[in-house]
Amino acid sequence: MSNITTVKGFKDILPDETAKWRSIEEKARNIFADFGIREIRTPVLEKTDLFRRGIGDSTDIVEKEMYTFVDQGEESLTLRPEATASVIRSYIEHALYAADPLAKLFTIGPMFRRERPQKGRYRQFHQIDVEYLGYDDPRADAEVIMLLIQLLKNLGLADVKLEMNTLGCALCRPAFRESILSFLEGKKEDLCEDCRRRLNTNPLRVFDCKNTGCRRIITDAPRLLDVACGSCRKHFDVVTSSLTDFGIPFFVNTGMVRGLDYYTRTTFEITTEFLGAQNAVVGGGRYDGLVKDLGGPDIPGIGFAIGMERLLSLLPMKSEDFAIHPYIFIAALGDYAQKQAFSLCHRLRLRGIPAEMAYGGKSLKSQMKRANKLNCRYTLIFGDRELAAGTVELRDMRDSSQVSLSYQTIEETIATKFGEEQTHLG
Ligand code: HAM
Repeated sequence: MSNITTVKGFKDILPDETAKWRSIEEKARNIFADFGIREIRTPVLEKTDLFRRGIGDSTDIVEKEMYTFVDQGEESLTLRPEATASVIRSYIEHALYAADPLAKLFTIGPMFRRERPQKGRYRQFHQIDVEYLGYDDPRADAEVIMLLIQLLKNLGLADVKLEMNTLGCALCRPAFRESILSFLEGKKEDLCEDCRRRLNTNPLRVFDCKNTGCRRIITDAPRLLDVACGSCRKHFDVVTSSLTDFGIPFFVNTGMVRGLDYYTRTTFEITTEFLGAQNAVVGGGRYDGLVKDLGGPDIPGIGFAIGMERLLSLLPMKSEDFAIHPYIFIAALGDYAQKQAFSLCHRLRLRGIPAEMAYGGKSLKSQMKRANKLNCRYTLIFGDRELAAGTVELRDMRDSSQVSLSYQTIEETIATKFGEEQTHLG
């Protein structure tokens, strides 16, 4: 019988990796606290309509990539492909705006998109997602981006490119849509099937098409920045000049439309050449109509999501730097010694001192081998005979020096040593 493996595009995060994940999450949580951003956790499963309405029916995500199924109660449900729609659903459902119309929220967790798996692209991946609700000032856009850049810096990520664009508002977007439509009208035959179909529903999607023919055509298309209304233009100017004031470099990419339909005004991506085809590690932007579209009040929003797998692949983190090593290994020989070691090991752990031992009547050689493999700081060695004499051996695993110590006070001796070394390290 063949082994059961993970689902295609889904990945296990093994023990050698989890500490790196935790360290990123911890750094993110620390900076979120500085910016007053609070955690929200929403379910991974939502009603399908949330994403259809939120992300947009004519996006790749909704058209092709959602894990959607009808459950036993005849309800269409979907594994969340992103977090923004879920966060907004929760914000509306619990009327969080009633207590405070301003909300800064973050969530961290798995998302699901049935894309073709390749390097940097998975069917289950993880995002660190931030959403600011109730903020319409362009300085909020700048704040969100500045916080993101600082987080990436704290994580040691250099060599990234911030790409920015504006997608306009309800005032200037319709005219832009018309001008794109008339630009594409004569070139219809050369567009891919998807884009031809989307001409009627969402012509802006052509900007996002990966087809080389469509890419070539769209190069000369009109750009929103050229036809943006006065207030969208001003908004973009304040965002970009605030970034400049803080020395944050950016590139204006007028062809960037993002893959989700809810965006208005500021959009941005963090890209890097090290990621190859899947070059965006972060995507985000403003979505001033989304809360209303999902049935809530007219409240603006802006946010971003970092792809954790892509982020990890860019960070110079080594698993060894995060390995956990026992402080002490107890090598005990003989029945009585094993019993004493078992109890001492547990007492040390209860005091917060990482301790390990080998069970069973293993030879001293094999126990020392285990102590070495675990890379522990000290090994405590005793047999029934040593216990009867009241002395045990403590071996320093760094220089192999050994001292005899009283068994009576060994727990305290180890605790004191551990405390001193922690203070020294800290
Ligand atoms: P997104 O651009 O679709 O935006 O995704 C954000 C990030 O998630 C991407 O830049 C990438 O790093 C990661 N990502 C997306 N799909 C995959 C995949 N299949 N495999 C691995 N990583 C992936 C959003 O999801 C928006 N909700 C962001 C946002 C929040 N906008 C406003 N607020």
